Amino acid sequence: MPSGKRGRFPVGTPILDAARQLGVYVESVCGGRATCGRCQVEVQTGQFAKHGITSTLDHISPKGPKEERYERVRGLPEGRRLSCSATVQGDLVVDVPQDTVINAQVVRKAATDRVIERNSAVQLCYVEVDEPDMHKPLGDLDRLKVVLEKDWGWKDLLVAPHLVPQVQSILRKGNWGVTAAIHRDMDTSRPFIIALYPGLKNEAYGIACDIGSTTIAMHLVSLLSGRIVASSGTSNPQIRFGEDLMSRVSYVMMNPDGREAMTKAVREAVNTLIGKVCAEGEVAREDIFDCVFVGNPIMHHLFLGIDPTELGQAPFALAVSGAMQFWAHEIGIEVSKGARLYMLPCIAGHVGADAAGATLSEGPYRQDRMMLLVDVGTNAEIVLGDAKRVVAASSPTGPAFEGAEISSGQRAAPGAIERVRIDPDTLEPRFRVIGVQSWSDEPNFGKDVEAVGITGICGSAIIEVVAEMYLAGIISEDGVVDGTLATRSSRIIPNGRTFSYLLHDGAPRITVTQNDVRAIQLAKAALYAGVKLLMEKQGVDHVDTIRFAGAFGSFIDPKYAMVLGLIPDCELTEVKAVGNAAGTGALMALLNRDHRREIEREVGRIEKIETALEPNFQQLFVDAMALPNKADPFPKLSA
Ligand code: FES
Repeated sequence: MPSGKRGRFPVGTPILDAARQLGVYVESVCGGRATCGRCQVEVQTGQFAKHGITSTLDHISPKGPKEERYERVRGLPEGRRLSCSATVQGDLVVDVPQDTVINAQVVRKAATDRVIERNSAVQLCYVEVDEPDMHKPLGDLDRLKVVLEKDWGWKDLLVAPHLVPQVQSILRKGNWGVTAAIHRDMDTSRPFIIALYPGLKNEAYGIACDIGSTTIAMHLVSLLSGRIVASSGTSNPQIRFGEDLMSRVSYVMMNPDGREAMTKAVREAVNTLIGKVCAEGEVAREDIFDCVFVGNPIMHHLFLGIDPTELGQAPFALAVSGAMQFWAHEIGIEVSKGARLYMLPCIAGHVGADAAGATLSEGPYRQDRMMLLVDVGTNAEIVLGDAKRVVAASSPTGPAFEGAEISSGQRAAPGAIERVRIDPDTLEPRFRVIGVQSWSDEPNFGKDVEAVGITGICGSAIIEVVAEMYLAGIISEDGVVDGTLATRSSRIIPNGRTFSYLLHDGAPRITVTQNDVRAIQLAKAALYAGVKLLMEKQGVDHVDTIRFAGAFGSFIDPKYAMVLGLIPDCELTEVKAVGNAAGTGALMALLNRDHRREIEREVGRIEKIETALEPNFQQLFVDAMALPNKADPFPKLSA
């Protein structure tokens, strides 16, 4: 358990061997010497009608001297056994404990409750190497390989070049007992010794990192237990070269050293972030052996040191679309010298390795229902499909959803208005501010807000305020602010030849202008037209389920997204925010190399649609400018 796999084994079989034969991954570093403690399991006793099993404590061997010694020295939690020492004596139900298979944080964030089974690319293997013998001239490294094959089954081992000069001293320092870190997911398909330690080395870590244009997010993970040791984020320092992706491409085009400067900036930020998660998790950066990265195509290229200029113009050619592998130090990442770096494949010129990560995490191709997966940023990445077929596109939504191009817009931060309601009779607003508990119409709001102040309005609130203005009749279906209401409410104020809505009459004064409404209309029309195009390609008139990936999706209220016609009609209960799904996908690829093959295979199957080349995109866009839409009904919304 929890895999539910079962089988029959001769009495005396170590539980570790039984698990392996069943294809259940249980960690082992010491090779069954009862010293690493990595192979712990829990044995259940009792009657298990569902499995037709009666299990008692007699059905497992009592602790032998080696296991007792481990318990005495290191301690074993109640009910736990070392599966390398405990043997099968009768019918048993064995739990591989939750802390070794599930990462609670991952499951909580992902909308689909899913267990990431561990099968990481790196394995630690302790061996005792024969001492040199004048009669057998085999070299120290060669004898190490021999014992790694004999004890662990590693054939055709290669060795990271930097290790070769160190092998002799490490073997002697460990008194011929050493732990080798083996990477078994190299592009050569041959396993590689990537690190070597004297004695027993009992920890190996990896990082999963999502390089966003605004934020870089990272998890530090134990490759042996699957536990997230620390998570953190930092802003992408490339912002100083350009706020959005296209301005960063322009920066490269206009500055001879632009690409180098941006590559250097993002790598430095990644290294700083590694330092931060390592400090938080009390882990040495030299113990990080595997790194998985995702990012949109432009971040992907700049991180790998590739000029992104071609991505700035049709036909948006990627320098490389397939998954990539490097030695991490080749990319300037400061971790173990032998660590590897894996970059997920890109789907298309504007649908990157981040969308591939989100696709791996949410798995539209794993289900029969039609799933729409959107990651809203300055460019919306859209994936639509089911087990039969998956299509993907990007749509140029612009930065309005992130609060840019909006008169009082700002990023989500303390002081930003995040929720808005408008009374349809009085047209009076009430709102909430990030960092403040009370709503603006509550008695203690004035006092509560003093500490943070009111600074602007963030992306999620822009969606809400425009939707509430529409529901209150302040704007028409065409998005025009109704100036005639000025006679009824002092909230409607003239602004040149148009009218604005006064949301907050303080310092600063926060209004929603006609131009703000237009910017939101343009952004949402671009997103919806992209989605609709993919629906047409799939031949469907509705989607069964919608997943919002990314920070924006976490704060947006699905009801308001639908009122504005940002997303197609769908059961509201089927619209879910899945947080940083791209990062979750990176984590899956880090913890289980089978997921790397899975997403490489699926990305090859995804059909890429280039919205700019589709003749009806323009019409879909024009229809989608209306609120919620000129052509499409929203029956679930009216219900
Ligand atoms: Fe190391 Fe069991 S495999 S203690």
